[in-house]
Amino acid sequence: MQIFHKKEALIEFLQKEKNVPQTIGLVPTMGALHKGHLSLVENALQNNTLVVVSIFVNPTQFDNKSDLEKYPKSLENDLEKLKSLSDNLIIFAPSAEDIYDDNITSEAFDFDGLENEMEGKFRSGHFDGVGTIVKKLFSIVTPNNAYFGEKDFQQLQIIKKMVEKNQLPVNIVGCPISREENGLAMSSRNERLPKEVREKASFIYETILKAKEKFGTESAIDTVNWIEKQFSSNANFKLEYAEIANEKTLKPVKTKKDNEHYRLFVAVYANDIRLIDNVALN
Ligand code: PAF
Repeated sequence: MQIFHKKEALIEFLQKEKNVPQTIGLVPTMGALHKGHLSLVENALQNNTLVVVSIFVNPTQFDNKSDLEKYPKSLENDLEKLKSLSDNLIIFAPSAEDIYDDNITSEAFDFDGLENEMEGKFRSGHFDGVGTIVKKLFSIVTPNNAYFGEKDFQQLQIIKKMVEKNQLPVNIVGCPISREENGLAMSSRNERLPKEVREKASFIYETILKAKEKFGTESAIDTVNWIEKQFSSNANFKLEYAEIANEKTLKPVKTKKDNEHYRLFVAVYANDIRLIDNVALN
């Protein structure tokens, strides 16, 4: 396993590697790796000759300073986990100064309105920060394939839009959500949940699965109202939003149409920890 902390050194290394034909896979992460991340890396290893995993807590995508400060960091632990998958991984763990050239700001993007739905309403500037770092990583690593989890489904659609609009030569691979045994969607933030809250958080997935069933016979608005009611009678979790949206446009659904694909999205607070989840409805 080779670890790079400076982008120039990684670029030089990759240029040499490209002397022989390579398929490069990139798995961008913010570290605090869990099984969900590792499944992205496994997918990348199966389908590329060279895999780069980036580990970088990107400051420009945090609208809340304390969320950034509290974001779990565990580089040594992450490296151990990656090593157990393969000795041939390339790790890129830069500093903010290195990757941003001392100008730690976001580019302003237009994602055709995808950025204004759901997470965009509650996390100001978040997707500009994500777009900025992912575009930088693509230009440093020049991957053929890049892997993102469907837990951040809106992020996945936004990255696909950025690639399409900028005609970037990279294939975006969306990977299914990995879940803990009780159904809670895996997230680095789960580490911050007290044990008993983490156990009770099965409620989130259970509720969205029941809502999925309801949506089979009821309207989107009735299903969302039902979810809101479930959360208002559970003191452990505070629902920020529940939304049933078209998978492509991410716009909320008013009337169901047979040939469209819908997803249910929720954002929930457990204490001060924000969790998101989603499920395909049809
Ligand atoms: O999903 C994440 O962990 C981050 O948003 C990403 C894609 C690594 C960009 O910082």
